[in-house]
Amino acid sequence: MENNSDDLLEHLMVNVDDTPETNPKFHVHKLMNVSETTGDLILRGLCVDIPKGLIIGVIGPSGSGKSTFLRALNRLWEPPSGTVFLDGKDICDLDVLSLRRKVGMLFQLPVLFEGTVADNVRYGPKLRGKKLTDLEVVALLNLADLDSSFAEKNGGELSVGQAQRVALARTLANDPEVLLLDEPTSALDPISTQNIEDVIVKLKTNRDLTTIIVSHSVKQIQRIADLVCLLVDGEIVEVLKPNNLSQAKHPMALRFLELSS
Ligand SMILES: Nc1ncnc2c1ncn2[C@@H]1O[C@H](COP(=O)(O)OP(=O)(O)OP(=O)(O)O)[C@@H](O)[C@H]1O
Ligand SMILES: [Mg+2]
Repeated sequence: MENNSDDLLEHLMVNVDDTPETNPKFHVHKLMNVSETTGDLILRGLCVDIPKGLIIGVIGPSGSGKSTFLRALNRLWEPPSGTVFLDGKDICDLDVLSLRRKVGMLFQLPVLFEGTVADNVRYGPKLRGKKLTDLEVVALLNLADLDSSFAEKNGGELSVGQAQRVALARTLANDPEVLLLDEPTSALDPISTQNIEDVIVKLKTNRDLTTIIVSHSVKQIQRIADLVCLLVDGEIVEVLKPNNLSQAKHPMALRFLELSS
């Protein structure tokens, strides 16, 4: 599918009220990524506007470029300049560490640093010369649905679901404006999954956080997302409300939805 006319892209720039999005949190314009090893196009001029303060689900077939797209948004993969804008500023012009504080990321499997849970939560602020108090650590743990008894536990003694919530608390310690979540619950049991989903929804309500979550579970996206982006073959081909997914028009998107329902 060719996206060479801005007119064709208008359907990717809607918000929940169906009015044009004037101040998106992220504006992504014609984002391309060519594989360094094979020369294949991984992202093919991806265009989308991400509204502020919402949960945006990203779904699509394996290998379609979802993780690559997410990594471009905090420069874990360096996008070409002039393609990704945060609050109207080209992210390539921002200091990369302050960008990553503003735009935190969680992966499928949490990786905790050596030491206690509290050490992990204190990590980001410490890099900036700020020592979190015990109370501040506990408040962050509570935000991630963990109680104060976790603070002095060692990272190694936690379940994957608990470790994922510690990773979330550690990310929240940087006071991010955006959370990028790459299949954050795919290794978790249903209860841990529900805990994380509840936290994501609460962060939207209480802190106005913008969340972009990649998931293989269409049902999960329908539970928590305000908008769903369908990513097929390196392009966002549809942006729909979660209860309108069956209205997708792109044949591959329809096929993907049929198979995953
Ligand atoms: N470091 C890399 N070097 C070369 N090619 C890569 C690299 N990372 C990803 N790719 C290729 O880019 C394409 C998109 O990969 P990506 O991981 O973004 O897909 P995805 O949609 O997240 O898939 P999944 O649902 O399986 O996680 C794939 O064809 C993959 O082989
Ligand atoms: Mg992926």
